[in-house]
Amino acid sequence: MPINKVTDAEFKVIDAAVDELRSYFSNKADELGRPLTYLIKTYGCQLNESDSEKLSGYLEEMGLIESNTDKADVIFFNTCSIRENADDRLFGNLGVYKSVKRENKDMIIAVCGCMMKVEKNVEKIKKSYPFVDLVFDPQQLHLMPLLLQKSLSSKKLAVDIDNIDYIADDNRMPIARKRKFRALVPIMYGCNNFCTYCIVPFSRGRERSRDFDEIINQMKQLASEGYKEVMLLGQNVNSYGKDLGENKSFPDLLEACAQIEGFSRIRFMTSHPKDLSDRVIDIMAKYDSIETHLHLPCQSGSDAVLKRMNRHYTREQFLRTAKLFREKVPDGAISTDIIVGFPGETDRDFEDTLSLVRECRFDSAFTFQYSKRPGTKAAEFEDQVSQDVVTERFSRLLDLQNELVFESNKNLVGKTMEILIEGESNTAPDILTGRTKCNHLVNFTIPSELGISIKPNELEGKLGMVKITAAKPYSVEGVLECLIND
Ligand code: SAH
Ligand code: SF4
Ligand code: F3S
Repeated sequence: MPINKVTDAEFKVIDAAVDELRSYFSNKADELGRPLTYLIKTYGCQLNESDSEKLSGYLEEMGLIESNTDKADVIFFNTCSIRENADDRLFGNLGVYKSVKRENKDMIIAVCGCMMKVEKNVEKIKKSYPFVDLVFDPQQLHLMPLLLQKSLSSKKLAVDIDNIDYIADDNRMPIARKRKFRALVPIMYGCNNFCTYCIVPFSRGRERSRDFDEIINQMKQLASEGYKEVMLLGQNVNSYGKDLGENKSFPDLLEACAQIEGFSRIRFMTSHPKDLSDRVIDIMAKYDSIETHLHLPCQSGSDAVLKRMNRHYTREQFLRTAKLFREKVPDGAISTDIIVGFPGETDRDFEDTLSLVRECRFDSAFTFQYSKRPGTKAAEFEDQVSQDVVTERFSRLLDLQNELVFESNKNLVGKTMEILIEGESNTAPDILTGRTKCNHLVNFTIPSELGISIKPNELEGKLGMVKITAAKPYSVEGVLECLIND
């Protein structure tokens, strides 16, 4: 599959389309006597969140205003294909729009994201959801304005699911960031690992790293704009640079980012255990601006299963890395991903996963029931595990993990910790939420005697010291002691 870097000339054509669409939507707004609105429904991982911020950026340049109602004039579904239920959710949600669009013929509906790299899904849209106006896959995201233009002029579905793995410079695209303190920064796209259960290498194409200086320039710009937290994103950040031929690796990039003034939290995900070097852990221990949290998916604790998953590490190697991290970053936290019920997983294999979980004492874990993804190697394995067994194992794993998370949370009670404030919590207006440097979720109150008159939403992105007073199963509670001036 060819990898093409989007050229300046191509960007100019896209910019011209954006200009034309801006006048189209402005005329429409005059006709209707109100501004036009858009809504993006995002499913899946942070890479999709990041893609949606770019789509928002383009739509806002076209003069559209973000809405949070399903009645918006332009609706995007940015889909995920990681598990079967993700697919089901899209088609369930999309069905509702059949009648909505009948009432509002000018409404524009777009479907994009990882599901659109699966031919069958695109066919299904053409056949059963003919009211959709545009369809494109993640690699063609920057071409959205051209497709929208095409669909509006032809009044037909415009599709672009070409087999080209584009890489477009973020610095050349408009990005409407969701949070004013947090910036998502993809450092690489795609994946070459082909874990046998996983659809991502098919939906996101081959691994390609962004240019080193391009990322650093973007990071400097973000620091100057006041962003406090950055999240370096990639399916396997530790293989950053392998395709650049410039002798630049992930630790080089992480260290260069840490040396830029202004960030309080530099985060990165995901680390593949086979590629995580000791140097990354040393850099995490050395720089205060790097989060002391490592997301290190183990997937299973059994060597036999890891082999059939094509993960390229053993249980022992995983344990060594986890141990090294605990030694070098003593206050740090490790989170993981675990799949239960991978084809051929025996009771013994599953016990190995439970014992790995006990040994590593993960501070948090994302646990998944194996989901068969057509097109992947594991989907053809004949020894699929029955749903009853998967359900039973899954609930045992969950019980163990919940117990460990609760314990990890209890260990924080009594400590005073630095929190990056994320804003109001969902629970009550006077409770705020934030995260510790190792990614623990903290809900806290502000005692009136502190005399803080700033509104909660204006505290977003500020650092504070919070005394942890109680542990909950998935979070901790605390009281603000002071704000830290930056
Ligand atoms: N690149 C990351 C993972 C991205 S997908 C990594 O290698 O760690 C996020 C998680 O979804 C994976 O870690 C895995 O635990 C889970 N996952 C992926 N495919 C799955 C499948 N077919 N069934 C169940 N869980 C799956
Ligand atoms: Fe999927 Fe494996 Fe690539 Fe992660 S490393 S995206 S699990 S193939
Ligand atoms: Fe889903 Fe695509 Fe992310 S399949 S998990 S949105 S890379």
